[in-house]
Amino acid sequence: MTALKSPAVLLVVMMVASFLPQSTVAKTRHVVGDASGWSIPPGGATTYATWAAQQTFTVGDTLFFNFTTGLHTVAEVSQPAYGACSSINTLSLNPTGPTTVTLTRPGTHYYICTVVSHCQIGQKLTINVSPVTAATPESTPLSPAPTFELSPTGSPVPLPLSASPAFAAVVPVTFLAVALALFY
Ligand SMILES: *[C@@H]1O[C@H](CO)[C@@H](O)[C@H](O)[C@H]1NC(C)=O
Repeated sequence: MTALKSPAVLLVVMMVASFLPQSTVAKTRHVVGDASGWSIPPGGATTYATWAAQQTFTVGDTLFFNFTTGLHTVAEVSQPAYGACSSINTLSLNPTGPTTVTLTRPGTHYYICTVVSHCQIGQKLTINVSPVTAATPESTPLSPAPTFELSPTGSPVPLPLSASPAFAAVVPVTFLAVALALFY
């Protein structure tokens, strides 16, 4: 019965795989300022505000600050330091460009260039980072059914992954594939 051994292993692997959460969250690399990179913006501080407003930042995404070492820096600072363009107590300072910053925490983050006067004339960026969320409606087109149920307090709570229609669809497909593997 050694012929069955390989399909049996395949069966186990596929069963395990079908219970792993299917990641639907893509990490995005945001090139700060697009082609202009990280520099003194001709349009002042609204330049980076406008850029940021066109982006959706989620934990796990990265910011690519494109600048030449020696001309600029990028530092994450607190909100008061951002308002004052102060580089005295930076949360992080990267003087070497270009550089990539990974967004590890949700919330509002503030970045400035610490080169004298650059922040004052607009080289500063504020972003709002969202936490990683469960599957969104776009990523589960097979699920017209509601994915929320009422908790005892009446507020909606997400159903566990195993109860979602998308998950339910994975299991029969997996076993169909296994059946084909076993019998052909
Ligand atoms: C970074 O800036 C350099 C010089 O302006 C440019 O050649 C390069 O294409 C930029 N890279 C990205 C990813 O925008």
